[in-house]
Amino acid sequence: MPIESHEVRLASRPQGAPTAENFSFATVEVAEPGPGEVMVRNVCMSVDPYMRGRMNEGRSYVPAFEIGKPLEGSAVGRVIASRDAALPVGTHVLSFLGWREVYVAAAARLQVVDVSRAAASAYLGVLGITGLTAWVGLFRVAGLKAGETVFVSAGAGAVGGAVCQLARLHGCRVVASASSAAKVEYLREELKVDYAFSYLDGAPLDHLRRGAPEGIHVYFDNTGGPQLEAALYALRDFGRVALCGGIANYNTPAPGPRNLTVAIGKRLRLEGFIVSDHMKEMPAFLAEALPALESGRLASRETVVEGLEAAPGALMDLLHPGAGNVGKMVVKLAE
Ligand SMILES: NC(=O)c1ccc[n+]([C@@H]2O[C@H](COP(=O)([O-])OP(=O)(O)OC[C@H]3O[C@@H](n4cnc5c(N)ncnc54)[C@H](OP(=O)(O)O)[C@@H]3O)[C@@H](O)[C@H]2O)c1
Repeated sequence: MPIESHEVRLASRPQGAPTAENFSFATVEVAEPGPGEVMVRNVCMSVDPYMRGRMNEGRSYVPAFEIGKPLEGSAVGRVIASRDAALPVGTHVLSFLGWREVYVAAAARLQVVDVSRAAASAYLGVLGITGLTAWVGLFRVAGLKAGETVFVSAGAGAVGGAVCQLARLHGCRVVASASSAAKVEYLREELKVDYAFSYLDGAPLDHLRRGAPEGIHVYFDNTGGPQLEAALYALRDFGRVALCGGIANYNTPAPGPRNLTVAIGKRLRLEGFIVSDHMKEMPAFLAEALPALESGRLASRETVVEGLEAAPGALMDLLHPGAGNVGKMVVKLAE
């Protein structure tokens, strides 16, 4: 029997910060699965800052969202009807078909996740793309080694929180920044970073000099903007920067750091990366992260909002300093 589903579509392209008018909601009928297909009800979905870029027109490393079409993003769902023996009803699967309640897809496009070992939402966060981004940026891009000092911006967010924890597990010193006093306390008390500060309270460079008097070896950049500029001054000779995100510039692009020339004298290496180029590393990452999560050495912190209607607001919130999330922003869609 066909089943009714709600979805969130791109209504128009934002100028600057997205607003509610840029999104629309639609009800659709989802037909039964054909041979080799399954019908899935999404249980939870991810909300990610990079989606802001996909709301713009034009070519990037991922196609732009199309006006009038549903948005896309990572989601974990439960198979509710199956025409594929490998994915029986009840199996939990990871897809890129979030922003909708129910979908039909070829079973081969979906990845099974083991919800007996970790909550479904963990596969969107610390065990998913989020955790892999942190791991790849730290150890493959920046080549972080035990005993080194790393600074991470947006440290209380999803990727940033994973960076803090993974770096500490690898025997590194961690300096991390976030907006509010509550987030700074979270960094200090729960993630146990060595020095945490608010980038809105005083000059970031003063904090970096206090938190890492000998300088930093690696900067894991989630924000760009003033914190990148401060990090360039604080980096040691031959320091490395993993350019992961530039959220300070997503809504309103701004010129780059004024002091880029210090990279010459210090022989710095700044390297951008996109996690989707590194998916083959997922098994190696999970071999480390899943046992760490199960043993309690790695925590999966999430901020959960309820229902599809809340999803656009959650995305808009992420893109501002002082966003409401601690850890991974997740939208819960069903039990
Ligand atoms: N390269 C890749 O493959 C890849 C993959 C995943 C994510 N990313 C990037 O990694 C970064 C973090 O992503 P995430 O999913 O973990 O999101 P997140 O950190 O959980 O959420 C975004 C955070 O950014 C901070 N923020 C917002 N506007 C800011 C501004 N103007 N200046 C400084 N901080 C600001 C907010 O924290 P505060 O409250 O502390 O301001 C917010 O909580 C993003 O830049 C994202 O695009 C890259």
